[in-house]
Amino acid sequence: MDRFKNKVALITGSSQGIGAACALRLAKEGCNIILNGHKFDERGEKLIDQIKEMGQKAIFLAADLSKTKEAIKLVKDAVSEFGRLDILVNNAGVEKKADFWEVTEEDYDLVMDTNLKGVFFTIQAFVNYCREHQVSGTVINMSSVHEEIVFPHFAAYCASKGGLRMLTRNLATELAPFNIRINNVAPGAVSTPINQDLLNNKEQLEKVLQNIPLRRMGKVEDVASVVAFLASDEAAYVTGSTYFVDGGLTYHYEEQ
Ligand code: NAI
Repeated sequence: MDRFKNKVALITGSSQGIGAACALRLAKEGCNIILNGHKFDERGEKLIDQIKEMGQKAIFLAADLSKTKEAIKLVKDAVSEFGRLDILVNNAGVEKKADFWEVTEEDYDLVMDTNLKGVFFTIQAFVNYCREHQVSGTVINMSSVHEEIVFPHFAAYCASKGGLRMLTRNLATELAPFNIRINNVAPGAVSTPINQDLLNNKEQLEKVLQNIPLRRMGKVEDVASVVAFLASDEAAYVTGSTYFVDGGLTYHYEEQ
C-alpha cells in the first residue's frame, strides 16, 4: 500500500516504543517521517536508516515537548524541512507513580506539561500552519485507556489523558471547517519500556492479563496499525473519536 505517498508525518517521542512503531508503519506506506525526542541518539539513527531503506525520507528533530516554545519551534522546523506537514502524531508521554497525597508539584507539572500542555500547543502550531497555507491535516493523539478508566496512584496521568479526551472532542468541532481531523488512540497495556517494571514482574503481569479478554499484552504494531488507519483517507469521515487498542480491557466484564 502507498496510502501516504509524498506525505509528511511528525511523530513526537518516536525514538522507541509506540512512536517508533508508528514511524515505521507510516513509512512502510510511503510517508516521509520527522522523528522527535529529547535528543538524537543511536535509536533515532537506526530508525532513519530503516526508513531510508524503505525509500522514504526521514530526519530527527530534538525538542522537549513539555516546553511550549520548543513544541512550536518543532512544528515550524518540521514544515521547513520537507516543505509540508500532513500528519501530526502526538505520541510523547510520561507517567509517574505515587500515592495521590505524595505527588509533588514537579511530577505533576512534568506529566501535565508533557501529556496535555505540550500536545495542546503542538496542535495549535500545526493548525496555524494548516490555516496559513490552506491545507487540510490530521492529528492523532496517543491517549490511553486511562482517559476512560481509573488508574489508582497515577492521578496526574489520568487527569492528563482525561483532558486529552475532551480536547479532542472539542477540537474536532472547532477544526472541522478547516478539514482538520483529530482523533485519539487509547492503548491498553502495551509491551514498551514505559511498562518495563510490569514486564519484569511475572506475578503482577499475570494479574494484568486476567483483566484483558484477549489475554495478552498489546504489541506496538497493534497500535501503529490503528494510527495508520486514522491518518489515512480511509478515515476521512472520522473525527472526535477515541479508538481503544486494549484487547478488550476497558469494558471487560468478569463472570462471577
Ligand atoms: P515510551 O516511554 O517507550 O516512549 C515515550 C517516548 O516519548 C520516549 O522516547 C520519551 O523520551 C519521549 N518523550 C517523553 N517526554 C518527552 C518530551 N517532553 N519531549 C519529547 N519526547 C518526550 O512510551 P510508550 O509506551 O511508547 O508510550 C507512548 C505513548 O503511549 C505515551 O503517550 C503513553 O502515555 C501512551 N500509552 C502507552 C501505553 C503502554 O502500555 N505502553 C498504554 C497507554 C498509553
